[in-house]
Amino acid sequence: MSENRELLLSVKDLRVSFFTHAGEVKAVGGISYDLHRGEVMGIVGESGSGKSVEAYSIMGLLQSPGRVIGGSITLDGENVLDYNKEQLQKMRGNRISMIFQNPMTCLNPVYTVGNQIAEALTAHKNVSHADARAAVIEMLKLVGIPNPEKRMKQYPHELSGGMRQRVMIALALICEPDLLIADEPTTALDVTIQAQILELMKDVQKKTQMAIIFITHNLGVVADICDRVSVMYAGKIVETGSVADIFYRPRHPYTLGLLASMPRVDAQEYERLVPIEGTPVDMLNPPPGCAFAPRCEKCMNICIKADPPETDLGDGHIVNCWMEVPRDE
Ligand SMILES: Nc1ncnc2c1ncn2[C@@H]1O[C@H](COP(=O)(O)OP(=O)(O)OP(=O)(O)O)[C@@H](O)[C@H]1O
Ligand SMILES: [Mg+2]
Repeated sequence: MSENRELLLSVKDLRVSFFTHAGEVKAVGGISYDLHRGEVMGIVGESGSGKSVEAYSIMGLLQSPGRVIGGSITLDGENVLDYNKEQLQKMRGNRISMIFQNPMTCLNPVYTVGNQIAEALTAHKNVSHADARAAVIEMLKLVGIPNPEKRMKQYPHELSGGMRQRVMIALALICEPDLLIADEPTTALDVTIQAQILELMKDVQKKTQMAIIFITHNLGVVADICDRVSVMYAGKIVETGSVADIFYRPRHPYTLGLLASMPRVDAQEYERLVPIEGTPVDMLNPPPGCAFAPRCEKCMNICIKADPPETDLGDGHIVNCWMEVPRDE
């Protein structure tokens, strides 16, 4: 990674809550990071840690009763939280695209896939009908769909799950966005197709130099595709660093637990996974102090009293854990 990369996205102290009948669910509790052009950042963390809510907030797709209650999301110098509906529509699909876990979330069943992709292009760019058609065929080819002239005339339900996923990726990429947010883009697919789709995303990323936020449960995928990883726990980033930092020099006990609970990429055969003991945090009534403390083997007195500050370990490796906080004397 070069040092002089241009800043694309800057998230500062983002807070998102859901205001439910039972009370306020603090789904994202103040996360910050910078993403540069062409950079691929992974976000990992267990179910319910706030990964999707964070992504939806960037896209302006947060649904009620969810609300951004603090912080900023700056894209190319503009706070997208200040955008009106029209500005958000202009941004989505054009500057930022998202790939969802379920392709049917964003594919319209009553339009042919070709029309949908062409429409995405003509909505944002000034292109003729003929040019749009040619671009769609080109893009379908790029995402590995054989016989695109025929496929583009089909409806989403006529395609297999793998083909639909590819169509969704084509839809996300057709306007050459600066940023692609991929939220568990391959979990619904079988392993062979997963690998093909990842290769495809890497290819496109190299060609277009778009930045990617890659949300996944799969650390193997992270190692394969990401430059940098953020580990989320209970709505916060608890550790962030390069892939090497997180895999070989993890410092947060939750990251260590996560690594231990993941199947190894080089596992010869079935290996027992070590689940992290304890239950995830109740986001309605989070405990004081570090959210991971009740599950942490290394928990100290301070951990149940106060939230740990950030400790910068150098070279962008940052951890939020009291064990890493240097003592004064
Ligand atoms: N509509 C909603 N109402 C209330 N709480 C919600 C709602 N949607 C999400 N949440 C809460 O927000 C938190 C974060 O959810 P989110 O979907 O971002 O998790 P995630 O990290 O993407 O999990 P997964 O890995 O399962 O996709 C969860 O604790 C969840 O309970
Ligand atoms: Mg999610």
